[in-house]
Amino acid sequence: MTVTRTQVGIVGGGPAGLMLSHLLRRAGIDSVVVEARERSVIESTNRAGILERDSVRMLVDTGVSDRVLTDGHEHRGINLRFDGVNHLVNFQDLIGASTWLYPQTDVFIDLANAHDRDGGDVRFGVQDTDVADVTGQPRITYTDAEGTAHEIRCDILVGADGSRSITRAHVEGHTPYFKEYPFAWFGIMCEAPPSADELIYAHSERGFVLASQRTETVQRMYFQCDPHEKAENWSDDQIWAEMRARIAGQDGFELKEGPIFEKTVLPFRSFVCEPMRHGNLLLAGDAAHTVPPTGAKGLNLALADVRVLAEVLERHFGGEDGALDEYGPRALRRVWKAQHFSYWMTSMLHSVDGATDFDVKRQLGELSMVVGSERGSSYLAEAYTGWPED
Ligand code: PHB
Repeated sequence: MTVTRTQVGIVGGGPAGLMLSHLLRRAGIDSVVVEARERSVIESTNRAGILERDSVRMLVDTGVSDRVLTDGHEHRGINLRFDGVNHLVNFQDLIGASTWLYPQTDVFIDLANAHDRDGGDVRFGVQDTDVADVTGQPRITYTDAEGTAHEIRCDILVGADGSRSITRAHVEGHTPYFKEYPFAWFGIMCEAPPSADELIYAHSERGFVLASQRTETVQRMYFQCDPHEKAENWSDDQIWAEMRARIAGQDGFELKEGPIFEKTVLPFRSFVCEPMRHGNLLLAGDAAHTVPPTGAKGLNLALADVRVLAEVLERHFGGEDGALDEYGPRALRRVWKAQHFSYWMTSMLHSVDGATDFDVKRQLGELSMVVGSERGSSYLAEAYTGWPED
């Protein structure tokens, strides 16, 4: 068995774990990251695509990559579509902020490359990861692809291991706050030009549709489906027919269609683990909380967590007593705002079985209120582009 000593052991090499390790290195704190998946698997998994203003700033200002500015696309607003008409909520006009369309996969690639460049210790494709002694001197154990056992001894252990976290169970006595939804998203990647300048979040009685984008020739779209839906049961024709029916409206707007090359059904739930710390174990990103994708908050929350976490760890290793106590409460303030925003967008835009005419009319009233009032749309704009740092 090999033994490595480090200050911070990080379980999970997705954006949260890699960003944390990058920020710590810049502060002179060493860390080791272990990740169960192979790098190539993460690099080829499609995830969400919207970055808040401060997330972009963080990637650029901390030297991860400028690529987000050259390859990413600025989005100055979103379209809310209901009653068959698109309504532009123009973030720039309302509050002078934008978001960037830059897929999570690219954020991961940039972070992994930054670690290569800077000599970061990131171990992909590890097996049988376990952690122990989180209230004393924490340890991570794992086996590598050749079957050799490894141990990492650290002062602080960070669980950034995603929604199926194994570290979360070590937060003794935590409360899991859950909200299940009676639907999921069917996600597709297709070869087509963008259908509009901005993303379209569409309400319809047949269910929600989101027309997102990737490049000039590839688009990402989603439609609300049953959580037990099987992606392979849908042909391209059936998918486009359903999308067409949900988008159809008096303005005659149509989605640009094309061959579909990926179909996946995405889980949909809200979850928060409180507290986010037990002794020397701290959770970050999806390990601590999951949001439904409607508000595009998941990756942004993970990056906001590790910004706070890196700051308190720097003070902790600088000798400040009690610095770690600040982490959970500060991170959770943003988490609950994002939980509310994601829930609000979801319930405003999705249809539920058994909804009455009253329920649908009420949703349309809510949407009219948001787009018809500068204060209503500014509320959406502030939340979507991201709250200031706490
Ligand atoms: C995406 O492009 O994958 C995306 C965009 C906005 C969302 C969710 C997902 O709200």
